[in-house]
Amino acid sequence: MSTLLLALQAAGWSRVLLCSVSTQCYRTMSSQKLLVSPPPPLLQPLSVPDRLLLGPGPSNPPPRILSAGGRQLIGHMHKEMIQIMDEIKLGIQYAFQTKNPLTLAVSGTGHCAMEAAVLNMVEQGDKVLVAVNGFWGERVTDIAKRLGAEVHQLVKNPGEYFTLEEIEKGLIQYAPFLFFITHGESSTGVVQPLDGLGELCHRYNCLLLVDAVASLGGTPVLMDQQGIDILYSGSQKVLSAPPGASPISFSNRARKKIYNRKTKPSSFYLDMEELAKYWGCDDNPRKYHHTAPINTFFCLREALAALAEKGLENSWKLHKENSLYLCEGLQKLGLKLFVKEPDARLPTVNTVFIPEGYDWKEITEYIMKNHGIEVSGGLGASAGKVLRIGLMGYNSTKFNVDRVLRALEDALQHCLKNKL
Ligand code: GLV
Repeated sequence: MSTLLLALQAAGWSRVLLCSVSTQCYRTMSSQKLLVSPPPPLLQPLSVPDRLLLGPGPSNPPPRILSAGGRQLIGHMHKEMIQIMDEIKLGIQYAFQTKNPLTLAVSGTGHCAMEAAVLNMVEQGDKVLVAVNGFWGERVTDIAKRLGAEVHQLVKNPGEYFTLEEIEKGLIQYAPFLFFITHGESSTGVVQPLDGLGELCHRYNCLLLVDAVASLGGTPVLMDQQGIDILYSGSQKVLSAPPGASPISFSNRARKKIYNRKTKPSSFYLDMEELAKYWGCDDNPRKYHHTAPINTFFCLREALAALAEKGLENSWKLHKENSLYLCEGLQKLGLKLFVKEPDARLPTVNTVFIPEGYDWKEITEYIMKNHGIEVSGGLGASAGKVLRIGLMGYNSTKFNVDRVLRALEDALQHCLKNKL
């Protein structure tokens, strides 16, 4: 080491300064062994296959939405971004058919919106009634219990929906402050009628919370007219946007409950009072809350714009027509639909029994491998019993129905041969 460096060291100069003048020190640093090497797969190009996604979601985004996601970033508090967030709010109000000021998109998937809905409403010891006719009621039961709520369930068989009379009995028996129901049960393919439900709940001083993740844009949901107090959805189904930004809205009744909570919600990230300030849902100046997934918001904006251009009524009609066309085709193949009542069939996620002697996994894997199409098995109580075929948003076309029917026919022949 040079006399100069020795002198500096003796004078107590920092190691950093020494490093900047000592080549020997560079050598010492680079010879430190890293415990984790650059992972070889990451040194290869990104590989994403082209697939037609006809499961319960996500659905394929159209080029317009994909390219929105690839636009250059802007700052999350820039005025242009705030304008885009305002447009998203308007788009959600249109899609939900609501004038609620507390309407926004949470930065997360539809599941995140579900958690946001429940955790903002529920406090320790609150009584909650949950309608369970598939997977999502069970999931909300779990979330509400984690929050310390007293949770009761109204249970129906998968494939059935609830009547107003059955719900009224539950409201009388349990006197909950919140009633949860799934509009589009993606695990079973059932659509729940909503007319009269809000009025019924309010008669018993109960707020109505509705999951419309699988139904929004595919079959009518009219938040204000149906008296829904809390409504949420996702972006990856009928909206055909990537998952990650999810619409949610609260009626003024629900908002009052939030603003009068005894305790703060357990999550800061999903605290609606804070999010309302970030989204400009009150009269106060916008306040930083978190850094939004900016490009995911671009995609959601474009998805909502596409829905507004098409019109809700056209979108509902199209989903119904294509679902009917699929159901006809499935029956022609000799398959049996899971939901008996035609009006109760969800047009976005269609469920069909797995025919006797077949293994659902073999069918779905065959279709994926040989036709590049995703169809899905059941979920929760429907697992092992049904196939779920999604026709959502950009993917809801007669052309895709023909493709999936051909693939299914081929799979049924092939997978049977495997067993003979
Ligand atoms: C997801 O929403 C599913 O139904 O699998």
